Amino acid sequence: MSERLDALAAAVCDCKHCKLSDSRRHLVFGTGAGNAAVMLVGEAPGEQEDLQGKPFVGPSGQLLDLYLNAVGLDRGKNVYIANILKCRPPYNRDPAPEEIAVCLPWLREQVKIIRPAVIVCLGRIAATTLISPDFRVTRQHGQFFEKGGIDFMGTFHPSALLRDPAKKGLALYDFLALEDRLRERGIL
Ligand code: URA
Repeated sequence: MSERLDALAAAVCDCKHCKLSDSRRHLVFGTGAGNAAVMLVGEAPGEQEDLQGKPFVGPSGQLLDLYLNAVGLDRGKNVYIANILKCRPPYNRDPAPEEIAVCLPWLREQVKIIRPAVIVCLGRIAATTLISPDFRVTRQHGQFFEKGGIDFMGTFHPSALLRDPAKKGLALYDFLALEDRLRERGIL
């Protein structure tokens, strides 16, 4: 991680901006390369992530790694992974709008420091928060939207793919589209 990311992580670690701080075991700041060209943003930590303090370390993370590795990406090397919320909502319920509102500034700071070329939104919560409130994953997955010099793309959340494996092929096409975009931009 870069020094600026380290400083931000230190500032975030005691965050008590919302009630989720009462029930969290670990705040999940994000992990990966501090200068990654690709950032992936999920919804919120689940049980395993809350226990370990790292994003996407449970079953959905294993599936995510398969997609990343299929297109030459690797969370240990050239991507950064974070979530819309840094703390786990009880019973993995959807993040509340006021929780998103108070947590999002931390993610925006991370984006300012990392300056990714592409942000992949994993699932509805990330895509409606970062791309557009009316984003529909089933209709708009795999499409790129330029905002503020960053290419945003929404795709299925890996947990949704575990529940509905018939969509796994569609998600692979999205990651192949990501690979094409990265090659076009000379990133891969
Ligand atoms: N689901 C998410 O959205 N994020 C994680 O970090 C883990 C599961």
